[in-house]
Amino acid sequence: MRTKRLRPETGGLNEAATLLAEGALVAFPTETVYGLGADARNGAAVARVYEAKGRPSFNPLIVHVADRAAAQAFVVWSDSAEILASAFWPGPLTLVLPLKEGHGLSSLVTAGLDTAAIRVPAHDTARALLRQFGGPVAAPSANPSGRISPTTADHVLAGLDGRIAAVLDDGPCSVGLESTIVGLAGPAPVLLRAGGLPQEAIETALGAPLAAPETEEISAPGQLSSHYAPDARVRLNADHAKPGEVMLGFGAIPGDLNLSPSGDLVEAAAHLFDYLHRLDAMRKPIAVAPVPMTGLGRAINDRLRRAAAPR
Ligand code: TXA
Ligand code: MG
Repeated sequence: MRTKRLRPETGGLNEAATLLAEGALVAFPTETVYGLGADARNGAAVARVYEAKGRPSFNPLIVHVADRAAAQAFVVWSDSAEILASAFWPGPLTLVLPLKEGHGLSSLVTAGLDTAAIRVPAHDTARALLRQFGGPVAAPSANPSGRISPTTADHVLAGLDGRIAAVLDDGPCSVGLESTIVGLAGPAPVLLRAGGLPQEAIETALGAPLAAPETEEISAPGQLSSHYAPDARVRLNADHAKPGEVMLGFGAIPGDLNLSPSGDLVEAAAHLFDYLHRLDAMRKPIAVAPVPMTGLGRAINDRLRRAAAPR
């Protein structure tokens, strides 16, 4: 199977929606990263997502919908959900909520859990595709499992060409970091994954701090620790490159590439995966400058730690 590159301005949306309806896999842009989309109600289509990514099947997928009303068809809504959806949807925030009776989602999407992760992306092409398709789209990041997330259609093709029907190409992603995931299925809101929406903004909207997840929920941490791994070895908190290394700089610490010479964390997040891809292509160990643990820095450091984890 050749993977088609579709463009929204030349009829690509229609074709992408048709492919999704046929149970085929279509990668599409969101403001965070490119997603690998499948009809979330079609078990076979969702299974092909796990297969194309080589993803361990216990890892559930995020359901993408066009608006809040569409989300409410699948999950049990709550006051906290209302506050966060009003404040941040469409946007880089995923909510984990209890599944509603008769939701119709494939159990592969939720990996058998009684909750679902759901979000409304803030990307015109993503939302146009969701409207055109008219149903929920399950979409993990459009990369082979354990590899760097894609922020351009070229990244998608580098990892998945020939394994998916099409990629809808609408340029680079603006946020460049996966969505922040907040769990709302328990007694108190929990931060399940740091991401493109800073924790502080969520806590301000809720008027309360987010709890940390009770466990690092995965029983075999090694399995997830190298989740965002380039091929090359990664060394963190470096102030210069050692001989033979390439360097990813930040702020005043220069490098072959610099996430943000001015030290802007939003700019750094948008560059992160693209720069890791580019340095990885140089086939040398990668030294990475320290990135502060404030705002988006938390999520950036989370991804960098995973990229550097032993494997
Ligand atoms: O920005 C994003 O979130 C991107 C774009 C494509 O929307 N998607 C993405 O999906 O990052 P994925 O599949 O790579 O990450 C999904 C994460 C996983 O870490 C998974 O464990 C968690 O969401 N998740 C999904 N359903 C869950 C649930 N019911 N409870 C807890 N965590 C869940
Ligand atoms: Mg991913």
